[in-house]
Amino acid sequence: MKCKVCKGPAVMDIRRHNAAFCKPHFLDHFRNQVARTIKEFSMFTSDDRLLVAVSGGKDSLAVWDVLIDLGYDATGFYLDLGIGGYSTRSKEAAIAYADAKGAKLIVRSLAEEHGYTVPELAKLTRRVPCSGCGLNKRYEFNRAALEEGFDILVTGHNLDDEVATLFGNVLHWNVDMLGRQAPVLEEKVVGGATALVRKVKPLVRLAERETAAYALLTGIDYVIEECPMVEGNTQHRYKEAVALLEESSPGTKNHMYFGFLNRVRHRFGDEDENFELVPCAGCGAPAARWDAAAEPVCSFCKTKRLALGRKQQ
Ligand code: FES
Ligand code: ZN
Ligand code: ZN
Repeated sequence: MKCKVCKGPAVMDIRRHNAAFCKPHFLDHFRNQVARTIKEFSMFTSDDRLLVAVSGGKDSLAVWDVLIDLGYDATGFYLDLGIGGYSTRSKEAAIAYADAKGAKLIVRSLAEEHGYTVPELAKLTRRVPCSGCGLNKRYEFNRAALEEGFDILVTGHNLDDEVATLFGNVLHWNVDMLGRQAPVLEEKVVGGATALVRKVKPLVRLAERETAAYALLTGIDYVIEECPMVEGNTQHRYKEAVALLEESSPGTKNHMYFGFLNRVRHRFGDEDENFELVPCAGCGAPAARWDAAAEPVCSFCKTKRLALGRKQQ
C-alpha cells in the first residue's frame, strides 16, 4: 500500500476515495477535508468565537484539534453527565487535552446545574438514558454558548453519525427531522434575541475510522470506551447496518449522505408550520407553541419538572 501523494509506505487506506496515505499526507488530507467542509457550507470565519462540545472521545477532540491548528478561536466545553467512571475518565481526557494544547476549556456538571445526573434522570423519567442525555446536552451546549458569548457551536458528528441518523429518519419517515438534518443549523431568533446559536458539524466528510486514525497519529489521548448506558440506543444499530453495506460497497455512506443533501433535502421544509417558537415560560429558551392558549414550556423544562417532582416524592 503506497501513499497516493508521495508513493512512500502508507499507514491508512480510505477505500471510498480509492486512496491510501502516509502519516503526514493523511493528516493533511484530514485537515483539508475539514477546511473544505467549513468553506463549502460557509460554516464560520476566523472572526467568529467557536464553542466546541467536547465529550473526551476521538471525534470531538479531533475536530477541536484541527480547528485550533487551522487558526480558529475555539474553546472547548465539557458537560459532566455523571455517568460514573465513564464520565470521570472522559472529563480527565478533555482536561488533559486542553492542558497539553494550551486550549481554553469550560467544564460544567449536570448535577450542579440542575440537580440530577443522566442515570438518575433516566430512572426518574422512566425513559431510556439517551433520550434525557441528548435533550440535556443540546440544552446545556446552547445555554453555555449563549451565556459565554459564542457565535458558533461546533459538534464532532462524523459521516457515520450523520448517515446513521439519516437511515433512522428514513426508516421511520421522520419528515420533520429530515428537513432539519444538515451540516449547519442556522441561528434562531425568538422574541428579538438569539435563542439558538448556529450549530455546525465540520467532520461530516470524515468517517469514524478516520477520526480514530487522526487521534491516534497525532497522539491525542481520548476515551476509547463507550458510554455504559448505550444499550437500547437505536442509532448504534443503524450504524452497524450501514457499516455492513459500506464494507461490501465502499462509498455507500458518502453517496447516501451527500446525495440526500444535494438532491433530496430541499423537498423537506426545515420549519414546522404547525407551531411557532416562543420563549419558554420557565427558562426563556425556545419552546414550541402548538396552542396559543397554553403556557409555552420547553421540553427541557418539562423533563426537569417531571424529574425533580418525582425526586421530592
Ligand atoms: Fe446514551 Fe450514553 S446516555 S450513549
Ligand atoms: Zn505521503
Ligand atoms: Zn424552558
